[in-house]
Amino acid sequence: MPESSDTSFQSLLHEIRVIPPSPEFAGQAHVRTAEDYDALYQRSLEDPEEFWAAAANELHWFAPWQNVLEWKEPIAKWFVGGQMNLSYNCLDLQVERGRGAKTAILWEGEPGEVRRISFEELLQQVQRCANALRSLGVRKGDCVAIYMGMVPELAVTLLACARIGSVHSVIFGGFAANALVDRINDAKAVAVVTQDSAWRRGNQVPLKGTVDEALTKCPSVRRCLVLRRTGAEVTMTPGRDMWWHDEMARAGAVCPAEPLDSEHPLYILYTSGTTGKPKGIVHTTGGYAVHTYLTSKLVFDLKEEDIYWCTADIGWVTGHSYVVYGILQNGVTTLMYEGAPNFPEQDRFWKIIDDHRVTVFYTAPTAIRAFIKWGDEFPKRHKLDSLRLLGSVGEPINPQTWMWYAEVIGKNRCPIVDTWWQTETGGIMITTLPGAIPAKPGSAGKPFFGIVPDVVTPGGQPVPEGNGGLLIIRKPWPGMARTIFNDPERYQRQYWSQISGAYCTGDGARRDPEGYLWLMGRVDDVINVSGHRLGTMEVESALVSHAKVAEAAVVGRPDPLRGAGGSGCETLVAHDAPAPDLKDELRAWVTAQIGALARPDDLRFAESLPKTRSGKIMRRLLRELAETGEVKGDTTTLEDLGAIAALRQADE
Ligand code: WT7
Repeated sequence: MPESSDTSFQSLLHEIRVIPPSPEFAGQAHVRTAEDYDALYQRSLEDPEEFWAAAANELHWFAPWQNVLEWKEPIAKWFVGGQMNLSYNCLDLQVERGRGAKTAILWEGEPGEVRRISFEELLQQVQRCANALRSLGVRKGDCVAIYMGMVPELAVTLLACARIGSVHSVIFGGFAANALVDRINDAKAVAVVTQDSAWRRGNQVPLKGTVDEALTKCPSVRRCLVLRRTGAEVTMTPGRDMWWHDEMARAGAVCPAEPLDSEHPLYILYTSGTTGKPKGIVHTTGGYAVHTYLTSKLVFDLKEEDIYWCTADIGWVTGHSYVVYGILQNGVTTLMYEGAPNFPEQDRFWKIIDDHRVTVFYTAPTAIRAFIKWGDEFPKRHKLDSLRLLGSVGEPINPQTWMWYAEVIGKNRCPIVDTWWQTETGGIMITTLPGAIPAKPGSAGKPFFGIVPDVVTPGGQPVPEGNGGLLIIRKPWPGMARTIFNDPERYQRQYWSQISGAYCTGDGARRDPEGYLWLMGRVDDVINVSGHRLGTMEVESALVSHAKVAEAAVVGRPDPLRGAGGSGCETLVAHDAPAPDLKDELRAWVTAQIGALARPDDLRFAESLPKTRSGKIMRRLLRELAETGEVKGDTTTLEDLGAIAALRQADE
């Protein structure tokens, strides 16, 4: 945000639809009415410690905590003195509660095979894996890097690390060797768990080969455990590399869960890096367990018989919190799909939903926009009648995308929970709690219990009603990150230095008179149009609501005097074959949607926009391209280097 201005920014979007949950859904939900939400929210603010302790008491603790919270900004300690184990809560506790024979992981491989792993079987595999890791020299507190596709053994490895108190660092299977090197060396991982290769759209991604390349530059790694998935040929380095099946067969069957201090580190996860050098976000055990447990239960309204499917890769925080830990702690079946949404055809997701009778489906707006682009005929091939609740995460879901999701996938029967949160927050923070909070398409909703968001100017002043400002969180919450690995100073500076006493999210938002929060994009991306400061999201949302636009990115045009965030903006629209008059049509469209102020002057078309592998548009690169004509910044998290090359060419 430019230092010179201590103002809020303007909001142009005026979405007025309000969509209440059906009485049938509300009647069976964990939280059933707005009044219940208000009362419980109030209670959670009056005594947050009592509120979170009640949730923690639904889990298993080896030793009780003495204090629920010790808070000395920016360091929080939750459930201090308590001892627990997240693997125990996901597995042993579920078996004790009578779910031993119930399916914990329902897995479908990209080629089509299906595996159902019960809680009892998962517990057995996790114990063996934990013993195998120990026999490879992995000790409590050691970091284990995990570089795998979406196979059940990935979840097994997470839970095995948690069982013995080693710290996992999952590195998304789409990253290249240099990203692996940085992340492994930063955390000094002692072992890597990988697989021969992974299926992706019918092709094989050679994960082990990439690990081999990386490990020439990773002195801390002593062992590499290799799962045979595809049967691809790999080179095994004697003394360093071991086969998963050999080690599992050799390992002892029994490995009791280690009682761990509530503040024992659970994992490091490097953020997707839309804004530069990746940061190793550290999460600890007890608080994270409680936050992911309770949000899973209430936000996804989980019930015993649910078949829950979150499409996120476990390489992202969404996969950690809401494919594995939050869902298994609730004893609910979690579906994992290995491959691409368009293999062998664009209806794969909808086929999976019908085949496995999925009830709760959680995905990202970037995926939904791809489904819209592919066409309604694909979902229409399937009944989708098992679904009862839909979720969205990762970006603002613009109202048109929301309506399509509700109509074509949810058949106007399923509530949609939008869920705003971050790698750093560990779990869901703002949401349209289904059953209790009527949705407003485009708004992320209201705070989850115990969460205290606020919207302020960069100087910390309240913003006028309806205006945009910085989204901050005023009180600590259990799932919050504890630090940036190896860089506590950066943690303090990045999140806790701007607004005294509050966590700074880096997002812009506005709050409407009914207390709903509307996310407006990252504040670093705010654009300045003729002296008006606008969030990128609203202009982009107006553009993608046009039938011919699948994706759009708006970035500030550099100003020689004021630099980034200067005046004017450049708009990129993803389009395969733009008609010559489409530019004028889109200018008129944006003017009609949100006003002449936002009418894009510079409009360019590209086949695709540069995105992170988690689907976020990398505006940082677009700005750099607009400013300097080339991209020198970190592109390790970029999905498709070709997108940048194509844009550069379009310039010439
Ligand atoms: C950033 C965090 C949350 C897990 C996946 C992404 C954006 C996320 C929403 C939402 C509007 C959202 C924010 C946030 N974001 N969810 N429902 N509505 N924006 O985790 O990679 O750490 O990204 O994603 O900008 O700060 P992440």
